[in-house]
Amino acid sequence: MSKDKILFTPGPLTTSLTVKRAMLRDLGSRDSEFIETVKSIRYRLLELGGVKPGDYEAVLMQGSGTFAVESVISSVIPPDGKLLVIVNGAYGRRIVQIAQTLKIDCLAVTFAEDSVPPLHVIETALTVEKQITHVAVIHCETTTGLINPIQAIGRLVHDYSKQYIVDAMSSFGAVPINLSDGAIDYLVSSANKCIEGVPGFAFALARREVLLGTAGYARSLSLDLLAQWRGLEANGQFRFTPPTHVLLAFQQALTELDEEGGVEGRAQRYRANYEALVKGMRAIGFEEYLKPELQGYIITSFRYPADPLFNFKDFYEGLNDKGFVIYPGKVSNADCFRIGTVGRITESDVRDLLDAIRITLDEMSIMLPGAVTRQRPVYSEF
Ligand SMILES: Cc1ncc(COP(=O)(O)O)c(C=O)c1O
Repeated sequence: MSKDKILFTPGPLTTSLTVKRAMLRDLGSRDSEFIETVKSIRYRLLELGGVKPGDYEAVLMQGSGTFAVESVISSVIPPDGKLLVIVNGAYGRRIVQIAQTLKIDCLAVTFAEDSVPPLHVIETALTVEKQITHVAVIHCETTTGLINPIQAIGRLVHDYSKQYIVDAMSSFGAVPINLSDGAIDYLVSSANKCIEGVPGFAFALARREVLLGTAGYARSLSLDLLAQWRGLEANGQFRFTPPTHVLLAFQQALTELDEEGGVEGRAQRYRANYEALVKGMRAIGFEEYLKPELQGYIITSFRYPADPLFNFKDFYEGLNDKGFVIYPGKVSNADCFRIGTVGRITESDVRDLLDAIRITLDEMSIMLPGAVTRQRPVYSEF
């Protein structure tokens, strides 16, 4: 079997062999061992969020991260409710799109993708729009890698007695989050991000008291958050076919997260990956899209170099041929590409990527100060 490429993406990510191996079993979805696995996963997710069962509940949902976001948005806002979405990137816009599709009354406050939303603007929206019942924000806006100040926003949302939804898809498991301290009512993340499982399900951690108050609000049968939780509570089973192999892999991924020292340990490795990447990229001559103080250590957007010979497709393919997968940009007002520093990768993988970048630039005849450039041929007309 040929060696897999290393994924410098925001997910699916490179996973450990042991996580992949955990899937080499067939367990029935009503098997007591499987039911125990699901129970323990739900408990361990709450632990990761710094909260206890009874105060909060973990609801697992089949599908990708968007399915769990849509499950929360479609299930917890009353028919006469209104959602305020804080937008500074594509994933914030996706929540607006979900609300619009579901015909949920929604107000978006949109900010530049390279800026942190000022609290006073959010406060004005909360003061003026009295009908707002829920506020949603993205923690790590994977569009750029920017980390939004979820704690400060949470305090504000709490002061205005609104319910608070945080999409922590690309940060949960690697950036410390305490749901209770952050006044978070619903947090959403997925299996194949920083917990380093494989794709197939996502989850919401919900404040029990508010979740119980949502009966009758669901606008979907399969994505009904409260019904899914009731199903899991009643007999430990999913209502509809669960991704059994993915859950086995996830259980192993949680064990490996513990072995690494939990969220703090994982944060340390990811931060070291990020620092090695940024140092190396700057030395080559690349520039980050965000100011360093706004940038998290999950994923970084880099601007295309000014050299007219640069094109992303050739750059991507050059790296891909060498065994490294990077990600296209998503920023709306600048040409960028993205490099993730999460998943089962280390600083040594980052150094190998940097070498591959230098060689690829050389192959493309891109002149950057730190690239190993051959002399470009000089053509003279006589
Ligand atoms: C912040 C955020 N929200 C939502 C999603 C959507 O997740 P998925 O692509 O798994 O549906 C992503 C995916 O990267 C994300 O980063």
